[in-house]
Amino acid sequence: MRPLFLIASLSLASALAAPAWSQSDLQKQAQQLFKPIPSSPPALPGNPATAERVALGKMLYFDPRLSQSHAISCNSCHMIGLGGVDLQETSIGHRWQRGGRNAPTVYNAVFDVAQFWDGRAKDLEQQAGGPLVNPVEMDTTEAHAVEQLRAIPGYGPEFAKAFPGSGEAITFDNIRRAIALFEATLITPNAPFDRYLKGDVAALDTTQTEGLALFIGKGCAACHAGINVGGAMYAPFGVVERPGAEILPPGDRGRFAVTKTVSDAYVFRVPSLRNVALTPPYFHSGKVWDLRQAVAVMGSSQLGAQLTDAEIDRITAFLGSLTAEQPQVTLPVLPPSVAATPQPKP
Ligand code: HEC
Ligand code: HEC
Repeated sequence: MRPLFLIASLSLASALAAPAWSQSDLQKQAQQLFKPIPSSPPALPGNPATAERVALGKMLYFDPRLSQSHAISCNSCHMIGLGGVDLQETSIGHRWQRGGRNAPTVYNAVFDVAQFWDGRAKDLEQQAGGPLVNPVEMDTTEAHAVEQLRAIPGYGPEFAKAFPGSGEAITFDNIRRAIALFEATLITPNAPFDRYLKGDVAALDTTQTEGLALFIGKGCAACHAGINVGGAMYAPFGVVERPGAEILPPGDRGRFAVTKTVSDAYVFRVPSLRNVALTPPYFHSGKVWDLRQAVAVMGSSQLGAQLTDAEIDRITAFLGSLTAEQPQVTLPVLPPSVAATPQPKP
């Protein structure tokens, strides 16, 4: 991982300095490094995207009865209509408790190599079980989530349609499968940068194009590449210079907690930069509210570069071209509770 970005950053930095860096060279370079978001959701292995299953997943995503308090749904922290985030430094969960990390967006998460800041869940399906049973998030148990839904009569037929012929359809695995499928539909194609990658050079304005050249030339793209402009690999936060404790609190050692490998201390999954202008605050700590400041921190911590104000402006303008039309989601009508439905435990 280290040699790769060093090479990229050196060779591209010299290319940028050369006046011969033409528009079409830049576009070709970009097309090699990044890929446009497809117009339809990718398939999930072993989890066919039937209309019934996606519709059920949407209900579950919005249903607060999956939390102990019946006050918190997935949408509480990953709000549809708000970039798929909660705009909090760290999220507020069960009994107003704060979790330890900033909530990443669910939009385009399906394209990431693994889920969570430390990659501890291999995919959306595995991830979806996490918040349900996390005591500072939704604080239920696998058994209670199942018991809860089985006691809401309207869910029986919905699960049966979504998971036909499999006996008892309301299971924890099926809850996760349905939610993951709905999340896979939350993709944001057709950002200006996607149109640029597909051939429309005019989709980026001059400042954004200069920002793209800097993003590649300075070496940002060595880590933030691929379809999500990130999300594809792990890297230390503080490759060249470790940020101060106010941005990188020493208590959260990232991927070390997953692998127990010393070299993984303070290693995090490189985040996707898709729609990043919509999802402050930044970093796993959520300590930086200004995207320009996040760009400056990246320059010094990851590349040892003190970016000038003009460079920061251009790179930030380029990041703005990663904002796409947002998913249009109709709120689902959820099946009603009845007298026998377990009541909330606030
Ligand atoms: C109380 C707030 C909260 C609730 C409720 C919540 N999440 Fe999250 N979510 C988070 C936080 C915080 C993280 C990052 C945690 C980490 O990396 O350790 C996260 C991470 C994720 C990720 C990984 C995204 C990425 O880029 O790695 C996905 C996907 C996700 N949540 C989906 C869901 C789903 C589905 C639900 C409902 C079952 C849900 N979340 C409920 C706060 C919440
Ligand atoms: C060595 C790999 C690497 C390089 C090079 C790199 N980044 Fe990052 N970037 C990361 C990692 C890892 C994080 C997550 C840090 C954290 O919060 O723990 C990150 C986070 C970010 C964030 C915050 C995203 C969010 O949602 O919180 C932005 C913005 C960003 N990088 C932009 C850039 C820019 C612009 C450059 C070039 C100046 C750059 N990065 C260079 C690895 C890299």
